[in-house]
Amino acid sequence: MSFILTDISNHIAILTINRPEALNAMNNMVVADLVSAVKSCIDDENVGVIILTGAGDKAFVAGADIKQMQSNGPKEALTFGQMGQHMTLLIENSPKPVIAAVNGFALGGGCEISMACHIRVASETATFGQPEVLLGILPGWGGTQRLPRLVSLGIANELITTGRMVSASEAKLIGLVNHVVPPNELIDKCKEIAAQILKNGPNAIAKSLACIREGFGTSIKEGLKIEVDLFSKLFGTEEANEGLSAFVEKRKPKFRGNA
Ligand code: CAA
Repeated sequence: MSFILTDISNHIAILTINRPEALNAMNNMVVADLVSAVKSCIDDENVGVIILTGAGDKAFVAGADIKQMQSNGPKEALTFGQMGQHMTLLIENSPKPVIAAVNGFALGGGCEISMACHIRVASETATFGQPEVLLGILPGWGGTQRLPRLVSLGIANELITTGRMVSASEAKLIGLVNHVVPPNELIDKCKEIAAQILKNGPNAIAKSLACIREGFGTSIKEGLKIEVDLFSKLFGTEEANEGLSAFVEKRKPKFRGNA
C-alpha cells in the first residue's frame, strides 16, 4: 500500500501524503512513494496540474523522519539527503505546475517539499520552519538553497539559524506563500488556480516554467538567451497555431488538457 493517495479529476491530480499518525513525516518509503506518484502524474496525459497536500488537519509534512534518522551515520545521511533532493528536484522540474496545499505544519523536509512546488497556498493554520539546527543537523533537502531564493538572504539566514517557526500570515508577508485562506477553502483555492492554468497551452506552461527555472540565478543575458530560444521554438507548433489563430478569429482556444 502506498503512503500517497492519488485522486485525479478534471485534469487535476491531488496527491495526499498519508501518514497522519506521524504528522506525515517522510521516511525512505514515503519518499519513494511520493517520487513514484509524482512520476506517474508527469507521465499521465490526463493530468495538467498537480496539487500536493498532507493527510489530516494538523500537518502538511512535519519533516524528514527523525526516528529513522536517529541511527544514521554520514553514509546513510548522504543517501537519505540525496533521495530527498532527487524528490524535490523531480517536483521542481515537473513540466506540469505543482501547487502545495499547505494544511498545517510544513517543517524541515516538509517546508523544503513545499518550496520545491511552483506555487504555495497555505491554510490560516499552517506553520513553516526549518528547525533542523534544533536537532544539531541542517536542512538537507534544499532548504539552504531554496529559502534564500524565495524570501531573501537575511530572512533565510535568520530562519535557518534560529529554527524559528513562522505563521501562515508571516509566511505571506515574507513571500514564502502566494495565498493564505481559511482551512476549509484550501483545496478549492488550489483547484481555482489549477483551473486557470488548465485553460492555457500545456507546452507553453512547461516551457515557461523551464525558462523561469533555468534562467533564475544566471545572468540576465544568459536568462534572456534561454527565454528567446524556447520562445521561438513554440512558434509553428500545433498549440501556438491554435492559440494565435483563436485570438485572431475571436474565439476561445482549444488546448489539449483543457478543463
Ligand atoms: N519525524 C518522526 N516522527 C515525527 C516527526 C518527525 N519529523 N514529527 C512528528 N512526529 C511524530 C511524533 O513523534 C509523534 O509520534 P508518537 O505519538 O509516536 O510519539 C506524532 O508524530 C505526533 O507528534 P507530536 O506528539 O510531537 O505532536 P505535537 O502537536 O505535540 O507537536 C510538532 C507537533 C511541533 C510538529 C512536533 O511533532 C515536532 O517538533 N516535530 C518535529 C519537527 C522537525 O523537527 N522537523 C524537521 C525534521 S529534520 C528534517 O526534516 C531534515 C531535512 O531537512 C530533510
